Amino acid sequence: MYRYAQKLHHLLRSLLLLSLMTATSARAAQQIDLIIDTDPGADDVVALLFALASPQELSIRALTTVAGNVRLDKTSRNARLAREWAGREEVPVYAGAPKPLIRTPIYAEDIHGKEGLSGVAVHEPKAGLAEGSAVNYLIETLKAARPHSITLAMLGPQTNLALALIQEPGIVQGIKEVVVMGGAHFNGGNITPVAEFNLFADPQAAEVVLRSGVKLTYLPLDVTHKILTSEARLKQIAAIDNTASKLVSDILNEYVKGDMEHYGLAGGPVHDATVIAYLLKPELFTGRSVNVVVDSREGPTFGQTIVDWYDGLKAPKNAFWVESGDAQGFFDLLTERLARLR
Ligand code: RIB
Ligand code: CA
Repeated sequence: MYRYAQKLHHLLRSLLLLSLMTATSARAAQQIDLIIDTDPGADDVVALLFALASPQELSIRALTTVAGNVRLDKTSRNARLAREWAGREEVPVYAGAPKPLIRTPIYAEDIHGKEGLSGVAVHEPKAGLAEGSAVNYLIETLKAARPHSITLAMLGPQTNLALALIQEPGIVQGIKEVVVMGGAHFNGGNITPVAEFNLFADPQAAEVVLRSGVKLTYLPLDVTHKILTSEARLKQIAAIDNTASKLVSDILNEYVKGDMEHYGLAGGPVHDATVIAYLLKPELFTGRSVNVVVDSREGPTFGQTIVDWYDGLKAPKNAFWVESGDAQGFFDLLTERLARLR
């Protein structure tokens, strides 16, 4: 009898171990190996908190910063702030390009505030920057990575990735997918009538990435302007009543004012956070594979993304263009993740 019980114990223990290993390997299989390139920026910080609150799905290797909404010193400080607020100071922050490839730098302090973070007080975070530049980090990491294993989330001008691709074209081997917040087609622009800020701030960089042949997904204004805050959605976030939700409420209450006034809307977009929602729950979004070209000629269409949505030119499809999304599903997911933070 005892021997039977012993055998049964061993069998049950092996089954338990096997199920645990299966669950872990399944989770590891689903986990996205991720680098977030960002120019924080109010909506960038919301996106970073969102991502840093989701370690089961997103294995964030590093944050790489770029000049964009504000100058590089402030975007880098704000990335370190987001990391501190999320309690994730083990994630390294590498500072990258202080200016675009060619054009004269532009900033968006009128939208994001002088410190690049509307609505909240900033301070010097305890944990510093990682040694070395973001461009070298991208080159070394993507060169050494398993084939097509690393996803890049691009939340600002694409200068860092473009410089890495120019210096070391072979890094495409390590890239699984590049998911970009940027561009506009149906919606029209937010910095000129036709251009969205991230593309307008460095169109040549976006062209380098487009031409590299990497798997590319764009979340343009076409979708971000359909996923808008509302009083109820901001209340939903505030009701979490933790530090992170208070920060996001204060940031968004200030940040969306500009767009609400400009477009006469009852709410504003949280552009960069849609990239994180897309990574976590792509089923919230719809789009199609298209041919995209970026206009980097001086003139009224500088920075425009020209999208062949109806495939009239029969040109090669070089990007998946997300055109719509489930707004309430986005805010429910964002709220659920922010609630996991302190
Ligand atoms: O046009 C919106 C984009 O420009 C967002 O990434 C915002 O942070 C700014 O960088
Ligand atoms: Ca941004």
